[in-house]
Amino acid sequence: MERITTVAALREVVDAARCSGKSVGLVPTMGALHSGHISLVERCVAENDVTVVSVFVNPTQFNDKRDLELYPRTPEEDCAMLEKAGCTYVFTPSVEEVYPEPDTRVFELGTVAEVMEGRFRPGHFNGVAQIVSKLFAMVSPHRAYFGEKDFQQIAVIRTMAAQLQFDIDIIACPIVREADGLALSSRNTRLTPEQRRNAPRIAETLFKSRTFAESHTVEETIRYVVDTINTVPEMRVEYYEIVDGNTLLPVENWQDSSYIVGCITVYNGEVRLIDNITYCRP
Ligand code: PAF
Repeated sequence: MERITTVAALREVVDAARCSGKSVGLVPTMGALHSGHISLVERCVAENDVTVVSVFVNPTQFNDKRDLELYPRTPEEDCAMLEKAGCTYVFTPSVEEVYPEPDTRVFELGTVAEVMEGRFRPGHFNGVAQIVSKLFAMVSPHRAYFGEKDFQQIAVIRTMAAQLQFDIDIIACPIVREADGLALSSRNTRLTPEQRRNAPRIAETLFKSRTFAESHTVEETIRYVVDTINTVPEMRVEYYEIVDGNTLLPVENWQDSSYIVGCITVYNGEVRLIDNITYCRP
């Protein structure tokens, strides 16, 4: 594995790979890697000749300065994990390398970027679109891999890629969970031991809500999830929405769509956790 820090050096190696007929896969990350990221890298390695993993804590997608400061950074551990997973190039640029000029682009991504996270984290998806469009332009990968834990992010990236006509296969990979159900997240390391012990209640409630939904309305199911999680010490649901998996617009009845997903955000103490569950898939 080679470590690359400049855009020029990155372009040189990926251009050479593409010119010699090799397929290139990209896994964008913000580091603090865990098995969820590694599952993306392993899939990328299996499906492409060359795997590029970017490790960059992108300042433009943090609407909360404290969250940016507290975001975990573990560069040495990240590199060791990537090497073991078979990554070809790890791209670890500085902020100045990625943003030599301030990025003033404002993306008009429509409702997929306005609902849920869009409402609670203003500017977040614009920052994601800025960095991911830059990485797509720098690497020109054949395929790019994203985790379904950030369900809405994938819809936003698909919209951005369609608008800018990137010829890149965007591949959504399933959520990886701890044995107790907690969705893997770099933020989990910030939980206190007690918060960590309680955190699996989120996934547990989501999974139970699938059975609950068989004999209850969408509205009742939302109430069940919110009320159950809010009884857990230190937990506060920010939102729970049951939406069409493509448009991300709320569904009112289970018959309204053949693809229905529940998306949740919960504050566990100070730490904001997200998760989602599929009720039905076409
Ligand atoms: O999902 C993430 O870690 C980030 O939002 C991404 C896609 C790497 C962009 O910074």
